[in-house]
Amino acid sequence: MTGDRVGLAIVGAGAISDEYLENLTRFPDVSVHVVADALPDRARSQAKKHGVPGWGTIDDALAHPDVEIVANLTIPAAHAEVSAAILRAGRHVWTEKPLAVDLASGAELLELATRRGLRLGCAPDTILGPGLQAAQRAIASGLIGEPLSAITLMQDPGPESWHPNPEFLYAKGGGPLWDRGPYYLAMLTLLLGPLRSVTAVARSASAQRTIGDGSRAGTAFPVEVPTHVGVMTEFATGALAQSVYSFDSALPRNGFVEISGTEGTLAVPDPNQFTGDLLLFPARRWTVDDLIAIGGVEPARSEWTVLPTPPSTAKRGTGILDMASSIRAGVAHRASGELGYHVLDALTAIDHAATSRSCVEVQSTVESPEALPDGWDPYDTAL
Ligand SMILES: NC(=O)c1ccc[n+]([C@@H]2O[C@H](COP(=O)([O-])OP(=O)(O)OC[C@H]3O[C@@H](n4cnc5c(N)ncnc54)[C@H](O)[C@@H]3O)[C@@H](O)[C@H]2O)c1
Repeated sequence: MTGDRVGLAIVGAGAISDEYLENLTRFPDVSVHVVADALPDRARSQAKKHGVPGWGTIDDALAHPDVEIVANLTIPAAHAEVSAAILRAGRHVWTEKPLAVDLASGAELLELATRRGLRLGCAPDTILGPGLQAAQRAIASGLIGEPLSAITLMQDPGPESWHPNPEFLYAKGGGPLWDRGPYYLAMLTLLLGPLRSVTAVARSASAQRTIGDGSRAGTAFPVEVPTHVGVMTEFATGALAQSVYSFDSALPRNGFVEISGTEGTLAVPDPNQFTGDLLLFPARRWTVDDLIAIGGVEPARSEWTVLPTPPSTAKRGTGILDMASSIRAGVAHRASGELGYHVLDALTAIDHAATSRSCVEVQSTVESPEALPDGWDPYDTAL
C-alpha cells in the first residue's frame, strides 16, 4: 500500500493491457507496481511505456509486498489457472472475461476466494460506465414501465482482420458468444435481473480463418467454436430476450440493444462501450394511418427522445477501481465474481442448449449490483 492507495499488478501484457494501464496509472486511488507476462519482454515494454516501476513474471508480481489486487488479462484458457494462483498467494483478483472456460473452474474460484476471504472481480466493467448506469437508473425509475423483452444484436466479420493474435478468439472460451456475449449477458442481468433458461442454435460458417494484420498476416488457423449463435432467453422475472452473436456477417452491426416495457422502448448504449446516449420511444396509441405513414420497418430515429448521457471519464479499469475502494470501505464491489459466474453459467447453458437442441436452465442466480452514485468520477479520490 502506498499511502492509502491500493497497490496493483497486471498479469498479461497483450492487446488490452494498454487501455487498462492508461487508466490505472492515472486513477488517484490505485498504484500499479508490476506488469507481468509469460513473455518477459512484453511485460518490460508495457511497463516502460506506461511508467510502471516493476516488470517480470507472475511470481515477481505476487512477491511484491505492495500488490493487493492482481488484474488477470491473460487469454481465456489461462484465466482460471492464473486467478487461482493469485488467490492462493493471498491477493485479490480482477479477471478479464470470461471468469473461466468451464463452470467447474469458475465455481472453484468463487469457493477459493470465499475460503481465503479475498475479492474476486470479473469483467466487463462497461456495466459501470455512464451509459449502462444511466440505463439501469432509467429502468429502475419506471421509465419504460415493467420491462417485458429485449432484442440484442452483435454481428461482424470477426476480429482476425485487426487482432495480431486472434487464435484464442476462435478457441474454447472464444467465438462471438464467449468473447462478446459477456458484455450483453452482464448488461441484461444488470437491467433485467438473472437469467432463468435459454434455448439456442449455433453453427460455424468455415473451419478456418486467416490472420489479417501484424507479423503473422496470411497465416491460417482453425475455428474450434461456433461463429454464429442465436439465443432465446427467459429471465427470472418472466421477461424474454432474443440475441444474435455472430462473426459470420459481412455487415458490422454491434451494440444494438432495445428493451421494451409496458410504457415504452429504451435503446441502450453498446454494452461493449462505456457511454452512449439512451433513446426512448414512449408507448402511444397508434392509428392505422400512423402505421402506414411510417413507411419503413420502424419509426425514424428522429421520432425517439434522446436522453443524453455524460461522456465517459474512464474506461477499462473502472471495475478494479470500484473493487479497490470497496475493499477499503468494507462493502461489496459491483462487477463481482458472482456476476461473472452467472454470465459463465449462461454461456455454458447456451452452448449446451445449442448442442442438445433443448431448453437449458441457468442454475445460478445473482443480485444486480447497486448503481454507482450519480456523478461518480474515477478521478475523484475516495480513499
Ligand atoms: N483485445 C481486446 O480488444 C480485448 C477487449 C476486451 C477484453 N479483452 C480480454 O482481455 C484478455 C486478453 O486479451 P488480449 O487481446 O489482450 O490478448 P493477447 O493475446 O493480446 O494478450 C494476452 C497476454 O497474456 C499472456 N499470457 C497468456 N497466458 C499467460 C499465463 N499463463 N501467464 C502469464 N501471461 C500469460 C500472453 O503472453 C499475452 O501477452 C482476454 O480475456 C480478452 O477476452 C480483450
